[in-house]
Amino acid sequence: MSEIKALGYLGFSIADKEAWRDYAENILGVSVDDHDNGDMSLRVDSYAWRIKLKNSDHNNLDYVGWEVSDKQDLEGLKSRLHEHSIAFEVGSDELAKSRQVKELIVFYDPDGTRCEAFYGPLQLTNKPFVSPKGFRFITGEQGLGHIVLISKDHAAQEAFYTQLLGFKVSDYINTEIVPGKPLSISFLRCNGRHHSLALAPVPIPAKVAHIMLQVDNVDDVGRAMDAAEKAGTHFSFTLGRHSNDEMLSFYTMSPSGFDVEFGWGAIEVNDDSWHVKVHHTNSAWGHKFQRPPRK
Ligand SMILES: [Fe+2]
Repeated sequence: MSEIKALGYLGFSIADKEAWRDYAENILGVSVDDHDNGDMSLRVDSYAWRIKLKNSDHNNLDYVGWEVSDKQDLEGLKSRLHEHSIAFEVGSDELAKSRQVKELIVFYDPDGTRCEAFYGPLQLTNKPFVSPKGFRFITGEQGLGHIVLISKDHAAQEAFYTQLLGFKVSDYINTEIVPGKPLSISFLRCNGRHHSLALAPVPIPAKVAHIMLQVDNVDDVGRAMDAAEKAGTHFSFTLGRHSNDEMLSFYTMSPSGFDVEFGWGAIEVNDDSWHVKVHHTNSAWGHKFQRPPRK
C-alpha cells in the first residue's frame, strides 16, 4: 500500500489576489493569511495552511503536496522512486521552512505536475482555524479534499499514481460532459476519501479541472451557494449528487479559471469491501454543466 496518506496541500500562482480573497472568505468560508511577500495562504483546519496562493501575473497550478506519515515512509518512497529511475530532489531547509513541514521531496508526474511528498506539517493549535462563514471542513485522515488533474498522457498518469505511488482505483466514470465528446475519468484514493485525485483526459490546455472542499453540514452547501449567487460567481455545475462518491455539491469558477467543488455527504471507502466500479453518468441528478460566459 501507499506511503502517501492524504492530499496535504496545494500551491497556485494567481493573477487576481483581491478576487481570490473575496472568493475564499465569502464563498468558500476558508480563512486567509497574508504574508510579507504578498502571497496568501488559506486555512481550513489545524494545519498552518492548506492552499498557498502566490501573487503573480498569471494563473498556474504550481505543486501538489502529498502527505506521508513519517521519515521512514518518506525514505520508503524515495527508495521506490529510485528503483524506478524517477528523479527526485530532497527539498532544501529553506523550502521545508516555507512549506512549514519537517522534510519533503520533489518529483514530477508523467504530465509534468510538480509533486511534493512531505511529513511533519506545522499545526497551529494556538491559533485555531476560524471560518469566516462558520463552516467546518472534513479533513483529518481524509486530507484536504481532492484535485482533478487534466491528464495529457492518461495511461502513463494512471500507471504512475497507482503502480508507483500506490493509489487505488475506486472507479471510472465513462461519460460525455460535452455531448459528442466521450471521456473516461479515473478516480484514485489513498485513504478513506473516495478519491483524493482524479484524472480527466479532457483535450484542453489547463492542468487542473477542479479542487474540492467538503463541509460537514448540508446547510453550509446552501449558504455557500447563496453567497456565490449573490456575488454573481459563475456556476460551472449546478447543484447535484455525484454517482460515484455520492457527494452533494455545486461547482463555481474560481478567479483563476479552474472550478472549486463545494460539497457534503460523500461516502467513505472501506478498502476491505470496496470493488472497482464503472459509471456512465457523472451524477445521479443535477450537476448541469454550464459554459462560462465569454469575456
Ligand atoms: Fe470532484
